[in-house]
Amino acid sequence: MTSFSPRVFSGVQPTGNLHLGNYLGAISRFVPLQDQMPTIYCVVDLHAITAKHDPATLSRTTREVTAAYLAAGIDPKKAIIFNQSQVKEHAELAWIFNCIARMGWLSRMTQFKEKAGKNRENASVGLFAYPTLMAADILVYRATHVPVGDDQKQHMELTRDIAQKFNNDFAERIAELGLGVPNPTPSPELPDELFFPLTEPMIAGPATRIMSLRDGTKKMSKSDPSDLSRINLRDTADDIAKKIRKAKTDPEPLPGETDGLEDRAEAANLVGIYAALSGGTRETVLSEYGGQPFSVFKPALADLAVAKLAPIADEMNRLLADPASIDAVLSDGAERAGAIAEPVLRDTRRIMGFLEGR
Ligand code: TYM
Repeated sequence: MTSFSPRVFSGVQPTGNLHLGNYLGAISRFVPLQDQMPTIYCVVDLHAITAKHDPATLSRTTREVTAAYLAAGIDPKKAIIFNQSQVKEHAELAWIFNCIARMGWLSRMTQFKEKAGKNRENASVGLFAYPTLMAADILVYRATHVPVGDDQKQHMELTRDIAQKFNNDFAERIAELGLGVPNPTPSPELPDELFFPLTEPMIAGPATRIMSLRDGTKKMSKSDPSDLSRINLRDTADDIAKKIRKAKTDPEPLPGETDGLEDRAEAANLVGIYAALSGGTRETVLSEYGGQPFSVFKPALADLAVAKLAPIADEMNRLLADPASIDAVLSDGAERAGAIAEPVLRDTRRIMGFLEGR
């Protein structure tokens, strides 16, 4: 190989309540990439068991995320769609990465601190090691592009740190076995040849961080106890309209320029949502609605959201009525994903010095 070939990988946890943030920050952005390069979209069920889970619910939500991928327009003939646990190489590489990553690195992860809360002693070891599995997801395909929302930035930095340490620790062995790829961006911190790429996240567009509809300082999240805080992908048109109507705002009309959105978190959020749903920018939205009160903007946003999301909900419901076809998409995808991951793991085992005779 002369360089890492372009490949997209991303994943969504099947933990229920897929929402507008997941759609705009991630899933909707997966769709156009399938026509640009090889793409792999995973339902990360191994990540979903890092917190207490119910097995029957996990099977249902795994199908639900798969249905969301398909309903959003991901074509299983172009992209690989599968659930993580069906490709055992993820867990195997994650173990190796557990031995590369340092306790200090993982202790700094803000998402672990948030999720573990005050009772850290009682968090699962899996929750602590969550980011090493995420690094394995990406690097087991030597993926070069990862479309994600802003909240995954720190995990992506950790993925690069792991790749960098692996490349450095085993540089001689990688060269000896002839398994290196010339480093596309040479630097003094890295050997000339790499085994794992230093993957950059793709965090772009007006929707990298969709905020709660009840509190513009909090991220829209699956786990927020208030259902009014988020628009779920399977909400009815009435629910969507109601949630937008009740969304927290301020009494001022919308500004004409984006500068005027500073210190107006709720207004900025709704404008960002409109921009992402319409395929525009905050600027184009404000050029149309600047000076207008929320009593005009909110109904327009509700109409747009219903027009974009209702067909997705309908399609998800249609697909979910036939679980066997969803399972078939996942097993076909797992087969194809495994065929890419397997040789990478074989080489990784050789680099590590594991003997193989079986
Ligand atoms: P998860 O399941 O929490 O979220 C899935 C995707 O949705 C994005 N997202 C948001 N984007 C904008 N605004 C929001 N309020 C919002 N909330 C969530 C997330 O950034 C993510 O892109 N660790 C990942 C799953 C994962 C993964 C991977 C992702 C596992 N392995 C490898 C990429 C590559 C997660 O918990 O996503």
